[in-house]
Amino acid sequence: MKVLAASSVAHPNIALAKYWGKRAIPGNYPAVPSLSVTLDGMATRTTLRFDPRLTEDRFILGNELVLGRPLERITKLVDEVRSEAGFTTRASIVSANDFPTASGLASSASGFAALALAAVTAAGLEWSPARISDLARRASASAGRSIYGGYVRLDAGPLAGDGSQELAAEPVAPASAFPMKVVVCVTHEGAKAVASTDGMIRTMQTSPFYERWLSYGVENEQALREALLANDFARVGQLAEASALAMHASALACGVSYFNGATLEIMKQLRLLREVGLQVYGTIDAGPHVKVLVRPDQEPIVTPKLRAITGVVRTIVATPGGEPRVERIEASA
Ligand code: PMV
Repeated sequence: MKVLAASSVAHPNIALAKYWGKRAIPGNYPAVPSLSVTLDGMATRTTLRFDPRLTEDRFILGNELVLGRPLERITKLVDEVRSEAGFTTRASIVSANDFPTASGLASSASGFAALALAAVTAAGLEWSPARISDLARRASASAGRSIYGGYVRLDAGPLAGDGSQELAAEPVAPASAFPMKVVVCVTHEGAKAVASTDGMIRTMQTSPFYERWLSYGVENEQALREALLANDFARVGQLAEASALAMHASALACGVSYFNGATLEIMKQLRLLREVGLQVYGTIDAGPHVKVLVRPDQEPIVTPKLRAITGVVRTIVATPGGEPRVERIEASA
């Protein structure tokens, strides 16, 4: 049997313990370990078809043909699969997110996870989830974590090497082990100001706080993982908020700023809500949106309060889960 095409589904994830910065070696290895939660309900669907008639890869995202740098990143990933499978046939890739790309949810995480899964399957390779995670991670480190549902850890990269070492994410706990809701507070509709890789590189090269962030990132991830496994919601929330603030402090110290006025207002309101007994904690990625971690029983009380904050454009309520899967395989005899 020769596999020709495969369709896959993968979900976005949000880091509770953030990754920010890369090891100064090839291979896109993160500088600190990270711990994330994959989210159910939102998905990227990707169909990849190897087509001998094509002279180069063709990528359509949400009905639009994509060229330039994004296409190069896709071709690089598929090239690794082609070289392992021993052929050079180009691919047509059609991908769509069922959540808004400007929602502040990392579409690159679900996007590259879905692409890696579809490409490996369509090439007829029987790779372990760890190997697929390593492939996705090379394109976007957070994508390595979307190869698993629930709570997932990605270690920091090796200190030395040529970039060929495998580094895969690994599941830490199923979604059911730590009940939580994530309320995404969208504060701006549009593309982010500084791409995460550019922001990281500037932080690595010029932030006076980068070294401290590296040691803090390690301590924070370990403490957060222990709190998660002990099902200690308040501690997980505190550590997740602290991780995001430390990451942004290191970036802010060299002029890399992702916040807008609403970002700060939401963080202030979360502190006030905690004072009246609600367990709400915020985390922020490379954009101005705040993702609020809340206990499931408190979510119906908290979401309307978040929606009422000036500058919150809309809210999306997400739940941990999100195991990726292959939906369809097409093969010839
Ligand atoms: O995986 P990238 O290159 O898109 O970077 C992700 C960076 C953060 O979202 C800010 C943190 C993380 O660990 O996901």
